[in-house]
Amino acid sequence: MSINVANELKKARAGGYAIGAFNTSNLEVTKAICKAASNFDVPILIQTTPSAIEYAGLKQIFDIVTTEIKANNIKAAIHLDHGKDFDIVKKAIDIGYTSVMFDGSTFPYDENVLLTSKVVNYAHARGVSVEAEIGVIGHEEGGAVSGQSVMSMPDQVKNFIDLTGIDSVAVSVGNQHGAPSGEKVDFKILESISNVVNIPLVMHGSSGLSDGDIRGAIGLGVAKFNIDTNIKVAFSSAIEESKEADYRKANAEGMEEVEKVVAKYIELLSCGKK
Ligand code: G3H
Ligand code: ZN
Repeated sequence: MSINVANELKKARAGGYAIGAFNTSNLEVTKAICKAASNFDVPILIQTTPSAIEYAGLKQIFDIVTTEIKANNIKAAIHLDHGKDFDIVKKAIDIGYTSVMFDGSTFPYDENVLLTSKVVNYAHARGVSVEAEIGVIGHEEGGAVSGQSVMSMPDQVKNFIDLTGIDSVAVSVGNQHGAPSGEKVDFKILESISNVVNIPLVMHGSSGLSDGDIRGAIGLGVAKFNIDTNIKVAFSSAIEESKEADYRKANAEGMEEVEKVVAKYIELLSCGKK
């Protein structure tokens, strides 16, 4: 069953729980995510980055994800992750994505506001939910945190939301993409953001965060956690270690490991849900 992402995230923030957003690029990972979710009565997001779309094809990955959501009878939506320009966001919406992220975080502030507003106008006119990013969430390079992170500033985040009308906001509060060692949430900054912003907050780079940091962040209004690296590692390591010559059997081993990862996050994120 398809969900309204903006509403579900609002409910999650108000209810003190969070929703898992799991990245996929192929049939096997999508099946594993949906199978794991079918054992719980909670909503999830299945998301694809532009590079996943490039890998699989837009129509192909859209059909795979939406078919699996229906086949498993789960509450879920397909979400565009890190759309970097209007063109990819428009293509995703036009094909049927009901939730998109526009990531203009590396543009100067005023340009990020303008570009995000253009996305919000297009998306909201079609009933599509919008997430955007302010501050810059860095990424891992060779096991270390890259120097490109810029912390989100509470007043700027509030101003950005007021000017753009987005439904949820991705914040940079010590979180990093790619699970580098030492990734840690700065709870002081997160709390100051949470005090002035009442829309749901989004945590990217969740693979490297401890369970304690994830629980603490939920308590401060984070309603969506993005998980990619831990899924990729689970799938690829199982296949690497597999002794199976038939790739379907090797893939099945990878899918089993992905299922475990997804189930673990769903349990952790939804434990405050009544
Ligand atoms: O947008 C995707 C995420 O932020 C994933 O981050 O690879 O560290 O789990 P991660
Ligand atoms: Zn991300």
